[in-house]
Amino acid sequence: MNDTTHIFFGLKGDPFGKQICADDLWVEPSRADAITRLVDTALGRSHALVLGDPGTGKNCLVRAMSARLPATDYRVASIAHVTVGPRDFLRQVSLALGLPPHGTAAAVFEAIQRSIRTTWAEHRIHPVLVLDEVHLMPDRTLSHLHVLTNFDLDSNPLLSLILVGLPELQDRLKLGVHRSLLTRIRTSVQVSPTTLADTAAYVSRRLELVGSRSDIFVSDGMTMLHELAAGVPRVVDTLAWRAMQIAAQREERVISRATVRRAWQDTPLA
Ligand SMILES: Nc1ncnc2c1ncn2[C@@H]1O[C@H](COP(=O)(O)OP(=O)(O)O)[C@@H](O)[C@H]1O
Ligand SMILES: [Mg+2]
Repeated sequence: MNDTTHIFFGLKGDPFGKQICADDLWVEPSRADAITRLVDTALGRSHALVLGDPGTGKNCLVRAMSARLPATDYRVASIAHVTVGPRDFLRQVSLALGLPPHGTAAAVFEAIQRSIRTTWAEHRIHPVLVLDEVHLMPDRTLSHLHVLTNFDLDSNPLLSLILVGLPELQDRLKLGVHRSLLTRIRTSVQVSPTTLADTAAYVSRRLELVGSRSDIFVSDGMTMLHELAAGVPRVVDTLAWRAMQIAAQREERVISRATVRRAWQDTPLA
């Protein structure tokens, strides 16, 4: 059976789906500041660290940064699979830059370096490499990353790295072997869970994008949603949608505290 929850609420679709385009993102002042700092870091050819608990919105911020960089001068490439050794990691960088990932590690590295220099010299395009879930990267790969920060031409840095990970990544980078990488990173952005007011603003934004014109979560329902989800947008998405499904089944137009509690029992986090 198709899910008709959104129809019951008069919406165009699932408000809490993952496909949200960069222009539609919810951006309150601290996220706006983080996006600006990331954009400035890439424009300044430097590197950045983006830290936060799972589901707080790290990748959304990086997406917003990409959308703000001029597409004619910056090419953003992402690597999601970082749990590999240095050689496979370099192959992935190679693929992300559109190069054939063949040959020895030294040959792949050489090709990456050459391509980045040529792309800059001929097209004035600056690559920005986003590495996701870097806390999962094995030490031997992490300790190799700083070689990518050394691509210079006339001491003009040619590659920006954006390292995304859980907060413990920072502690790991402070350890001896990784300090040389840490000292090369200019910007650190912390993505925090939302406050109650921000959770409410976030939910309103997502609902408005699918055509909602009224408050679906009444005030104690919203407070419960915020508290149970601990201000983590990905959890808010799951819990809010489950609560809406339950309310639709019961033909209730507004969502109370009790419905949110009931919905919580249906999530794996309960
Ligand atoms: N600024 C935002 N605007 C809209 N939705 C967001 C935003 N931040 C987070 N979300 C929601 O939370 C989910 C998780 O965000 P994501 O950036 O993938 O988190 P993380 O990378 O920190 O695990 C997204 O799929 C989206 O639904
Ligand atoms: Mg993520």
